[in-house]
Amino acid sequence: MTDQSEEPEVELEARLAEQETFEPPESFVEQANVTDEGIYEEFEEAWPECWEAAADLLEWDEPYENVLEDEDAPFYRWFTGGKLNASYNCLDRHVENGAKNRAAIQWEGELGETRTYTYGELLNEVEAFAAGLRELGVEEDDVVTMYMPMIPELPIAMLACARIGAPHSVVFAGFSAEALATRMNASDSEYLITCDGYYRRGDALNHKEKSDKGLRQVDHDVTTVVVDRLGDELKHFLGKHAHDYDELVAEHEGASVEPVSRDAEDMLFLMYTSGTTGQPKGVKHTTAGYLAYTAWTGQAVLDIKPEDTYWCSADIGWITGHSYIVYGPLALGTTTLMYEGTPDYPEKDRFWELVEKYRVDTFYTAPTAIRAFMKWGAEYPEAHDLSSLRLLGTVGEPINPRAWKWYYKHIGGEECPIVDTWWQTETGGHMITTLPGIGEMKPGSAGPGLPGLDVRVVDGTGEEVDAGHAGYLTVNNPWPGMLRTLYQNDERFVSEYWQEYSDPDADEWVYFPEDGAKIDEDGYITVLGRVDDVINVSGHRLGTMELESAIVATAGVAEAAVVGGDHELKGEAVYAYVILEDGQEPTDAMRERIVDNVVEGIGPIAKPEDVIFTPELPKTRSGKIMRRLLEDIASGNELGNTSTLRNPDVVEDIQQQVQDD
Ligand code: WTA
Repeated sequence: MTDQSEEPEVELEARLAEQETFEPPESFVEQANVTDEGIYEEFEEAWPECWEAAADLLEWDEPYENVLEDEDAPFYRWFTGGKLNASYNCLDRHVENGAKNRAAIQWEGELGETRTYTYGELLNEVEAFAAGLRELGVEEDDVVTMYMPMIPELPIAMLACARIGAPHSVVFAGFSAEALATRMNASDSEYLITCDGYYRRGDALNHKEKSDKGLRQVDHDVTTVVVDRLGDELKHFLGKHAHDYDELVAEHEGASVEPVSRDAEDMLFLMYTSGTTGQPKGVKHTTAGYLAYTAWTGQAVLDIKPEDTYWCSADIGWITGHSYIVYGPLALGTTTLMYEGTPDYPEKDRFWELVEKYRVDTFYTAPTAIRAFMKWGAEYPEAHDLSSLRLLGTVGEPINPRAWKWYYKHIGGEECPIVDTWWQTETGGHMITTLPGIGEMKPGSAGPGLPGLDVRVVDGTGEEVDAGHAGYLTVNNPWPGMLRTLYQNDERFVSEYWQEYSDPDADEWVYFPEDGAKIDEDGYITVLGRVDDVINVSGHRLGTMELESAIVATAGVAEAAVVGGDHELKGEAVYAYVILEDGQEPTDAMRERIVDNVVEGIGPIAKPEDVIFTPELPKTRSGKIMRRLLEDIASGNELGNTSTLRNPDVVEDIQQQVQDD
C-alpha cells in the first residue's frame, strides 16, 4: 500500500524541479517598493536624468547642477555641483525625522551577546569618535584604514570618517598582515583602526598581533586606535602612537561634530580588490553617486523599508557589506542586523535562530552559504519560524538552479522572491537582477540589467552575441555608483576596464567587468564567471598573481601556476601547480610550507585545496601557460585538445599526480 500522505510532497518536488520560471508571489507584489513595469522604459527614455530618482533619496546641502558630466569620459562625474555628507544622510536626518529611537544596528556576537544602537545612539557615538579622530590629527581627505571584524565599531568608524570627510579604506579582517601593509602603503594611510581580537567558532582570535605585524611593514608612521573587543579574555598592550577606542570616545562624549559638506565627487572610500596583476587595485567611490546608487538599489532591489529588520550576512570588509550592511540600509533608515560569527557555530541553525529572533524581513547571502545549508539539511531551517521573511537575495557568484530552488523552498517557504544580484566592487551596487515586485525569476539567471543600464553580452569585436551564446559582459553606459578611478592610477583604470568603440570622437566608452555571460531571448543574463585571472572562492575575489607570488616566495619553489577548480561548497577552490628548484624534494613538509606561505601572505580564505608538484607546466609553443588545461585537470573535466602544447607529455604526468594525491 502506498502512503497517500506523501504524494503531494513528492508531486511538489517534481513540479519545483521542472519549473523554470517563477512569478513574484502576490503577497510580495502588493507591498513592493517598485511594481510598475514601465520603469524600464521610463529610465531609458529619460536617461541620464532618470537617476535623479536616486539623488532624491538623499538630502543635499547644496543641490547639484548636472546629473552627469561626460566630457572626460570614461572619467564620468555624477551630480556635479552638489554638496552633501554621507554620515548626515545615514544618521542625522533620520533622527531629525523622528526615528531617533528606531534601531539602526542590531548586533549579535558569536557568543550570543547583543547590542542595539538606535539612530540617536549611533549618531552620538559617531560624533564622539569623529571628534576623537580629529584630536588625533585626522583631517579631511586623509585615508583612514580599518582592519576590523564584524563589530559595531567598524560601521561607527566608517561613518565617523565620512562625517569629517576622511575617506576610509577597510581591509577584510581575515586578510593577512602583509595584505594590510600593502594596502596601507599603497594608500599612504597614516591612521589605523583595529581591535584586540574577536571570536571565531568559540575561540578568541588575536587580531592585534596580526595588525602589529602588518604595521611593522608599513613604510611610514601610523597612529592607531584599538577597540577592546575581548576584554579580559585577551589582554593587549597599547604601544606608542596607539589609543584605546573606549577612552577616546569617553573623552569626547556629547561632542557635536558638524558634518563636513563634501562635493558630490569627493571620495567617500577606497576599497582594494584583486585583479589580473599582482598589485591590488584601490577602487575609488565617491560621496553622492555611490550613496545615491546604494540607496536606490537598496530600495528597488532589496525592497528595504524603514520599519524592516534587514540582514545581509556578508562581511563589511567586502563591498557587499559596505553597500548593503552599512550605506544603503542606513541611508534608507532601516534596521540593519550585524552578526559576528559563522553560520555553523554553535550549531548549524545559527542563522535561522537569528532570523527567528530578530524577525528578519529580508535576508541577503552568498551561494556558497546556501550550498553549505543544503548540505547540512533542511532540518535546521525547519526547526525555526522563518515566516517573517519576505525577500531573499544572493550575491557574489553564480547560483545553480538546484541551490536556488532549495533556497526558495526551504528558506523562503515559496513565498519570497529571490533576487540574484550580479555586481562588483567596482560597480558600487547592483547591476543585473530582477526587480522583486516585477520580474519573473529564472533560477540560475540573474535577470536583466537594472533600469537605466545598458548591459550587453558581446563577442571579441563588441558585437552583441545571439541569445544562448556565450560572450563578454559589458555595460555600455555609465551609472552613478560606478568607480571613478583606481587610486593614483588613472591609466590602469582606463586600460583595465574601458574600451572605446567606433570613432574616438563618439565617446562611446564601454565598461568591461571581465565576466563571461550569456543572454536569453528575454534579455535575462546568466553570468558564467570571470574571464580574467581572478578566482572566486566562496564569493571572494582572489588574484592568481597574488597567490603565485606568495607561493614563489617559499624557499625551494621555482615556478607556480594557480588556477580555480570546481568545488562543491566553495564554488571554486585554489589549485596550485608547483615546480621545485633542482634538488628539492616534493615532500608533504614542502607542501605545508607552501600552504602556510599563502595563508601568511594573503589569508586563510586563499588556502590552496591542493598543491600539485610537477616537473613542468603545460605551455603553448609561444611559452604561455595553458591555464584552461590546468583548470580542467583540477576540476576533473575531460581534457580538450593538447596538441598545440610544446610539451604535451606533461599533461599525463600531472593527471597522474592528481590521482595519486
Ligand atoms: C562575481 C561582489 C554570478 C562576478 C559584489 C563578479 C557574480 C565578481 C554575482 C565581483 C552573481 C558577483 N552571479 N557572479 N549574482 N555577483 N559575481 O568585486 O564574477 O567581490 O565579477 O563583488 O563576483 O566580485 P566582488
